[in-house]
Amino acid sequence: MPATRPTAFFDPGSGLAVLSTPHSCYAVRIGTDGSPRHHYWGTPLDLAELSGLPPAVSPADSSFEADAAADELAPQTGARFGPAGLQVRFADGTRGAQWRFTGHTVDGGELRLHLSDRHYPLAADLCYRVRAGSDVIERWTELTHTGGPADGPITVDRLDSASWTAPRLADYRLSHLVGGWNSEFQLQRDRLPIAETVLTSRRGITSHHANPWLAVDDGTATEEHGEVWSTALAWSGSWRITVHRDPVGRTTWTGGFGHEGLHWTLRPGEALTTPVFAGLYTPHGFGAASRAWHDHIRGHVLPQPRRDRPVVYNSWEATHFDIDLAGQFRLAELAARLGTELFVLDDGWFGARSSDRAGLGDWSPRREAFPDGLRPLADHVHRLGMDFGVWVEPEMVNADSDLFRAHPEWVLHAPTREATELRNQLVLNFAHPEVEAWAQLTLDRLVRENGVDWLKWDANRAFTDVGWAGHPDPDRLWIDHTRAVHRIMDRLRDDHPSLRIEACAGGGGRVDLGMLARTDQAWTSDNTDPVDRIGIQHGYSQLFPAQTMAAWVTDCPNAATGRTTPLRFRFHVAMAGALGLGGDLARWSSEELREAADLVARYKAIRPLVQHGHQHRLTGQDGVSAVHYAADDDTAHALLVWRPTTRFGHRPAALRLPALDPDARYLDVDSGRTHSGTTLRHCGIDLPLPAGDYASCLIRLARLD
Ligand code: DGJ
Repeated sequence: MPATRPTAFFDPGSGLAVLSTPHSCYAVRIGTDGSPRHHYWGTPLDLAELSGLPPAVSPADSSFEADAAADELAPQTGARFGPAGLQVRFADGTRGAQWRFTGHTVDGGELRLHLSDRHYPLAADLCYRVRAGSDVIERWTELTHTGGPADGPITVDRLDSASWTAPRLADYRLSHLVGGWNSEFQLQRDRLPIAETVLTSRRGITSHHANPWLAVDDGTATEEHGEVWSTALAWSGSWRITVHRDPVGRTTWTGGFGHEGLHWTLRPGEALTTPVFAGLYTPHGFGAASRAWHDHIRGHVLPQPRRDRPVVYNSWEATHFDIDLAGQFRLAELAARLGTELFVLDDGWFGARSSDRAGLGDWSPRREAFPDGLRPLADHVHRLGMDFGVWVEPEMVNADSDLFRAHPEWVLHAPTREATELRNQLVLNFAHPEVEAWAQLTLDRLVRENGVDWLKWDANRAFTDVGWAGHPDPDRLWIDHTRAVHRIMDRLRDDHPSLRIEACAGGGGRVDLGMLARTDQAWTSDNTDPVDRIGIQHGYSQLFPAQTMAAWVTDCPNAATGRTTPLRFRFHVAMAGALGLGGDLARWSSEELREAADLVARYKAIRPLVQHGHQHRLTGQDGVSAVHYAADDDTAHALLVWRPTTRFGHRPAALRLPALDPDARYLDVDSGRTHSGTTLRHCGIDLPLPAGDYASCLIRLARLD
């Protein structure tokens, strides 16, 4: 049903719950057995069309498996043999819920389907929300123990946010993001096997290795064409999504927080609410899907989407732990001359932190480096006209720290197991209210007392040997730790409205919609090599908008790959996101500093397009790739084009620009040439790439009418 405004309604006659967005529609039907089943997800249909679709047969009733409709959240009872999104055990040992539909509520764009178990004191709300101007459908689940003390506790072995179902397609292909430290966000696109495919993190953070985003298509979608169903989980801890392509031709996936093997206890009166698992249908290819996600994240997730992300200078790669006040002053002055707007003091400024072996947890300035505290540096940075940022890693502690000596019981640990140190550090249990209160107070004081405008919040290791000795429900920490991190960030933002936060976890180990709801940008990867970054940024852009993608220009040879590339190429790759500089500016030649200042100025000129425009990913011939950022009203365009390697006999072919208006004319601002939109769409634009490897260019177009 075409809807200019998103709507949510329930039609008692047909038993259909319908969510309508500007370009899509999602429908659930309550079965005769009281269990909500997936009905439709795709191009807009009206109620008559939706009612005309074959009624959903309960998986529990169906004698022929191919007839059975998928559950909105599979409850483990009846003839259901796929992955169950809800797994519970009652005090008498009975497993699974058997639902009765008890009603619905609609509040604006939010719809809730109320369910309660036919025998046990368990209720669930399946929740759906649509938002103005967005095609994304947000879903989550609330589970409540409705009984009294005599009923005993209910054990929750799994509580997913939602299950999603793709329509019957000729084939199924799965796109998802894989990687590791220094190689995050690698786009993987493979035919989906007839099997259960598990995407997961068991690390306590979202992870570098998999991101809770995926897309399903029939194997024929491209950047510009084809139907795509994609989903993203708003959770920053461990998670699991199980995609099930079954032998009778159906593909569903169920996902939520926590990995397998965790158990949570619901006591009488207690409720458990999942994070949002958001879904998006787009009929115009992967590029349109990404743009719709970017719009949604800007419109409904990011705290301050319209605020320009500053050009940052971060001193980490320049100094590592070798920090002193004079050196930071010098770097700040050089950075300011280049046009940098924010100076971030990274790791090594606190406690006994002269290496990664000590001091983590002791958040007062290291005396040898900052004898009078951080104020002199903060004031100097502010005098230079920049904001002042500080790196923190609040969830972690070195065993060699005053904090650990005072509170060894604050770390995640199983008393009978050896604690595994990764990067010489342990993880604090943020689920512990005392630890959360300590972290809140420490960070608040740091910001308040030092004029801090920006926090880079890092988390450099995964959870291991997790335990919470003496706690009656120890697995809760897998949820409550993450919730405490979110809560602290929210409170810091509330208490310091101009504070901005950058999400970091040893690079891009914790980037998700939950994190982006309380941060401004994310450190994409510790790998700053521009050639590797092209792939990392391509994967990142599948879901996340460019303004959240922190990208630095650093020194050569690159610390991660040993590769040497021209400064201009490094800039052109980093300019595709929230530009930053991370090199040792004191070693840059005056020629390099001049070129850098010029490129920073050029970035600022295109920043409104990169950070607030629409992104189109382009692929040319011979290894050429590009991103095209277009203004909302088509008046201005910027293209960043890269060709890492050259081949004899191949000159770069013109690059087609399918996003342009065929009826308009465009001025190439730098060459002064004009072109028709049709020509640029169908014949392409000539690429002024210099000869040789690591060639790149910036092209700016202005609409002429
Ligand atoms: C990992 C981050 O990704 C780096 O940028 C840097 O902040 C280091 N941690 C500091 O320990």
